[in-house]
Amino acid sequence: PIRRPLIAGNWKMNGRLADGAWVEHFRGALTASGTDILVCPPATLLHHFATLLPGDAIALGGQDCSPEPDGAHTGDISAGMLKDVGCSHVIVGHSERRDGHGESSELVRRKAGAALREGLVPIICIGEQLEDREAGRAIETVLAQLAGSVPEAGADELVIAYEPVWAIGTGRSAGPEEAQEMHAAIRAAWPGDDREGLRILYGGSVKPENAQALLACPDIDGALVGGASLDPHVFARLVNLS
Ligand code: G3H
Repeated sequence: PIRRPLIAGNWKMNGRLADGAWVEHFRGALTASGTDILVCPPATLLHHFATLLPGDAIALGGQDCSPEPDGAHTGDISAGMLKDVGCSHVIVGHSERRDGHGESSELVRRKAGAALREGLVPIICIGEQLEDREAGRAIETVLAQLAGSVPEAGADELVIAYEPVWAIGTGRSAGPEEAQEMHAAIRAAWPGDDREGLRILYGGSVKPENAQALLACPDIDGALVGGASLDPHVFARLVNLS
C-alpha cells in the first residue's frame, strides 16, 4: 500500500491498573510487522502503559485533549500533559465527545490544533448519524465535519477516522463499498495536494470477521477499534491481518 496501515485501539472508559497484563498478552500474540499500532487506554492508565509498552513498536495515545494549554481548566487534560506522559497521538472529536459532551467541529479543530502544537498526531473523528445516511446526506454531512474540524496542517501530520455513528458499538459495521465510497470522498475533499499521504481509518464495529474486507479497500488505511481492542488476542488478530 502507498500508506502504512495504522490499527488503533480505543479503550474508551474501560480498564483498571490490573489490566496491565493486556500488554504482555498482546505482544505475545503479535506476528505482524509493517503496521503501525496505537493503544489509547483511559488517561488514568497512560503512565502505567508508558512503562509497559515498547515505545518504538506500539504507540500510546490519549482519547481527548483540551484546546487550551495548561491552566485553570478543572477536569481537563492538555496535549502537553499527554506528550509528557509518553503519548504520540490523541483522538479528538470522537462521536461520544461530540454527542455526549456537545462538542462542535470548531472545538474539535481547536483541540487538534493544540495537539499539533505539542507535536502530537491528532486522530480527528468524523461520521454521520443514521438519519443522515437514510436521508441520503451522509457524504455532505461528513465533508462538512471534515472542513470544520481540521486545522491547517500537512496530510502527514494528522489522521482522519471515519466512524459512522450507527456502526459504533452496534455490531453493525459499514459495508466495504459504503466505507470505501466515503473514504474516497474524504480524500478527494482534502484541501492540499498531499492527499495521497493522508491516512484515513475506518471505525465502527471492526472485528476480525469483517476487517479484512474493509482493510482491502484502496482508501481505507487502517482501523479505529473500540470493543474489539479490549481483548489482547482479538486486537492482535486485527493487527496481524492488516
Ligand atoms: O473509537 C472506536 C469506535 O468508536 C468504534 O467502537 O469498535 O466498539 O464499534 P466499536
